[in-house]
Amino acid sequence: DVLDVRALGSAGAYTFDPGFMATASCESKITFIDGDKGILLHRGYPIEQLAEKADYLDTCYLLLNGELPTAEQKAQFTDVIKNHTMVHEQLKSFFNGFRRDAHPMAILCGVVGALSAFYHDSLDNNNPQHREISAHRLIAKMPTIAAMAYKYSIGQPMMYPRNDLGYAENFLHMMFNTPCEEKPISPVLAKAMDRIFVLHADHEQNASTSTVRSVGSTGANPFACIAAGIAALWGPAHGGANEAVLLMLDEIGTVENVEKFLAKAKDKNDPFKLMGFGHRVYKNFDPRARVMKKTCDEVLAELGINDPQLELAMKLEEIALKDPYFAERNLYPNVDFYSGIILKAIGIPTSMFTVIFALSRTVGWISHWKEMLSGPYKINRPRQLYTGSVKRDIP
Ligand code: ACO
Repeated sequence: DVLDVRALGSAGAYTFDPGFMATASCESKITFIDGDKGILLHRGYPIEQLAEKADYLDTCYLLLNGELPTAEQKAQFTDVIKNHTMVHEQLKSFFNGFRRDAHPMAILCGVVGALSAFYHDSLDNNNPQHREISAHRLIAKMPTIAAMAYKYSIGQPMMYPRNDLGYAENFLHMMFNTPCEEKPISPVLAKAMDRIFVLHADHEQNASTSTVRSVGSTGANPFACIAAGIAALWGPAHGGANEAVLLMLDEIGTVENVEKFLAKAKDKNDPFKLMGFGHRVYKNFDPRARVMKKTCDEVLAELGINDPQLELAMKLEEIALKDPYFAERNLYPNVDFYSGIILKAIGIPTSMFTVIFALSRTVGWISHWKEMLSGPYKINRPRQLYTGSVKRDIP
């Protein structure tokens, strides 16, 4: 209903499609979504099966290369990623330029963009090998940089990656261990973390991925493209929603206040929205949310947590789903409604939630960037519907 084709003077006819609700900006073989049926496939495989039977590095390999790895390919790929987990030692001093209370997404934007200044040797976008090395570097270094941002914010020494640990396990090690005390990471928590990474790995042309493609279409280097994706992800309408869900639950406070806040969410004069509800594409249910809810139950059972915020979240979901306002508009909990609760249970601070989304989505971003550069593409250059003044002269 927003599609409106207008003639723009002698420039010809353009499609006016605010928010790109009905515009496909590219062809892609990576991810398929049927929002009405709640289907999400990566390279043909349903997300539910990937979450159950594959781990994050399998999913990375699949997104980048088109097929799940054989055992031998997986071992090689894991080795390559482990080879790149360290960051340049000088990058550490980069962190000192930030205030301790800086939001870790601000740090991530800056530091990831700066990687192009450290890895000059892989910046030739026309060279497929360079594109591959950049992809591996980004997948390998994101957990290290994310954990460094966290350690910097709490004033603890940064931890070096441990290559004898799995991808998610190593991330939790760098987040929570210290040089004085290295505790083993719970396999249930490492599995839950890995599943969060898998569920966020890609989602076709969402705002941040289309930003990465757009910036990449100018020929910018991959680290700059990913920094742009991080910036796009930061907003509360996109990746910032998982952080916003917890802040909203804090604001609601108790189960008794749910009805009051639902009324606010329905009031068109009130900017309050139910964070973690609704999705641009899924107008039935978000298949990732179902897997996430199951993982959420597992993690809380493992940790023996009886979280009042979870109780509040469940009550909110129950009441909202019965409310005709949400049903009429097809508003269901999305993946971020549950991921925040799991991250909180693992002990991740709220300000790191979107950073973890960025870490997970890096493989999706770089796979799209690589796919675009591997075929014919044009610089992204949309037109506009001009609504300003007609031509006039300065008196
Ligand atoms: N709470 C209350 N009402 C809502 C909500 C919500 N969370 N989301 C949408 N609506 C209403 C809108 O006000 C609108 O009502 P109207 O038809 O009476 O005007 C209707 O539902 C349609 O909403 P749109 O904003 O047109 O839907 P759109 O597809 O543009 O937006 C979005 C999708 C941005 C995700 C929106 O639902 C939202 O802001 N949700 C909350 C933030 C959130 O959870 N974001 C995470 C997205 S998932 C991800 O990034 C992984």
